[in-house]
Amino acid sequence: MDRLDGPPRLILVADLDCTLVDHDDPENTHLLRFNALWEAHYRHDSLLVYSTGRSMLSYLNLGKKKPLLTPDIAITSVGSEIAYCGELVVFDDVWVARLSEMWNRDIVVEETSKFPQLEPQPERSQEQHKVSFYVEREHAVEIMKVLPGILMERGVDVKMVYSNDYAFDVLPGKSGKGGGLTYLLEKLENEGKQSSNILVCGDSGNDAELFNISQAYGVMVSNSHKELLQWHEENAKDNPNIILASERCAAGIIEALQRFNLGPSFSPRDVLDAEHFQEEVLDPAHEVVQFYLFYEKWRSGEVDKSDKYLQNLKSLSSPLGIFVHPSGVEKPIHEWIDDLKTLHGEGKEKQFHIWLDRVLFSHISSDTWIVKFDKHELSEGKVRSCSTRVLLSCQEEKQKLAWMHIHQSWLAGFCSDDQETWIF
Ligand code: GLC
Ligand code: MG
Repeated sequence: MDRLDGPPRLILVADLDCTLVDHDDPENTHLLRFNALWEAHYRHDSLLVYSTGRSMLSYLNLGKKKPLLTPDIAITSVGSEIAYCGELVVFDDVWVARLSEMWNRDIVVEETSKFPQLEPQPERSQEQHKVSFYVEREHAVEIMKVLPGILMERGVDVKMVYSNDYAFDVLPGKSGKGGGLTYLLEKLENEGKQSSNILVCGDSGNDAELFNISQAYGVMVSNSHKELLQWHEENAKDNPNIILASERCAAGIIEALQRFNLGPSFSPRDVLDAEHFQEEVLDPAHEVVQFYLFYEKWRSGEVDKSDKYLQNLKSLSSPLGIFVHPSGVEKPIHEWIDDLKTLHGEGKEKQFHIWLDRVLFSHISSDTWIVKFDKHELSEGKVRSCSTRVLLSCQEEKQKLAWMHIHQSWLAGFCSDDQETWIF
C-alpha cells in the first residue's frame, strides 16, 4: 500500500472461491483474462483486495493451484484478519486488538457445543476470531435467533454468517467481510488514500455484507448462490450500483468494470494483435503484458511459425540489448529471439500459460523506465517463476519503447531443472 502516494484510482475487492476463481474451469480462462487486464491497466495506480472466508494459509494454498495475482491487501477468515502484502506480509495488529473486545473464544466454543446440530469444521478452519461449523440451513436459522442473546449475556458480542447452505461462522461482532472492509476503508481515508471508485465482487452469503458498504459499486457474479440473490432482493434491490452480472466469476468482474465505467475493460488477452501489438501509446505495463501474451501464443502454436513475428519482436528491442537468463547465461536479446524458433508450438497440449504479477514501473530518466514484475509460466501443471526487470527506453522518433535490457532470476523455490525451455 505504501507504493501509492495518493488515492487509488480503483479499489477492487473480490471474494475468491466462485467469484474470482472458477473451480469449474481447469483452464482458468477468465482468471487469466482478468490478470492480464489488471496488470496492464490497473496495478500501478489501483488496489487489489481479496476478501475470503479462507484462512491465510488456505488462501496461499489456493494460490499454488490457481493463477492468483498477489493482492495489495488480503482480508482473510471472513474479515477476521487483514494482511498487507508488500515485499513482506504484515498483519494488522490494531484490527486484531479491536476484534478482541467483547470476544472470548472459549465461551463461544462452550455455548455452541450445546447445539448438537452444529458440527465443528476441521481445526485448520478455526481461528482466534472465527469459530466455524457445518449445519443445515433450517437449524442455522433457529440457532441464529437465540445464540447472540445467550452469548451477549456472557459478555460476548458475535456476528453469525451462513454461507453456501452449509457453512456457519461465529465471529466477533465487529468482524465479517463488511466489518473488515469498513475498517480498511477508514484506515485508507486517514492516510489520504480514499477512493471514489470501489467495486466489491461476491457470490455467496458471507459476501452480502460487502454489498452494504454504501459508497461501493457491487457485482454479484452470474453464478451467485441463491442466498446472496435473496439477500439482495430483500435488502438492496433498489440500489442501482449493485448488479447481477450475466457472466461467471472473473468474467463477471470484468463486465462490472465496463458497466460501471470504472476503467479499461478489454483484457489484452482478448484484443492482442500478434503482429502489431506495440502500436499502443507508450505504456510500460501494457507493453510487457502484451509481449508475454505474444510469447505464450508463439509457444502454444496459436500464431503461425512466421518470421514476420520474430522480426517484429526484434524491432521492439535494441540490437545491443542483452537478456540475462536466470541461469546466468547472457546473450543479445536478438539471439534469444532466434532461439525461439525451436520452441514454436512446443507448449501445445501442455496447457501452456504465462501470467505476470506485480507489474510496477518507474522512470529512471526522462526517457527510460525500469519495469519490475514476476513472470509465471505454467506447463503441464508445473509452474516456474522468475523475478524480472526490463529496461525500456523511449525512441522518440518512433514513438516506441525499445527493450534495452532484461534480467531474470528464479524466485525462491522455483529453480528449473529444464532451463533450455525457458526463454524470457
Ligand atoms: C471458507 C472457510 C470456512 C467458512 C466459509 C464461509 O470456506 O474455509 O471456514 O465457514 O468460507 O465463510
Ligand atoms: Mg465465494
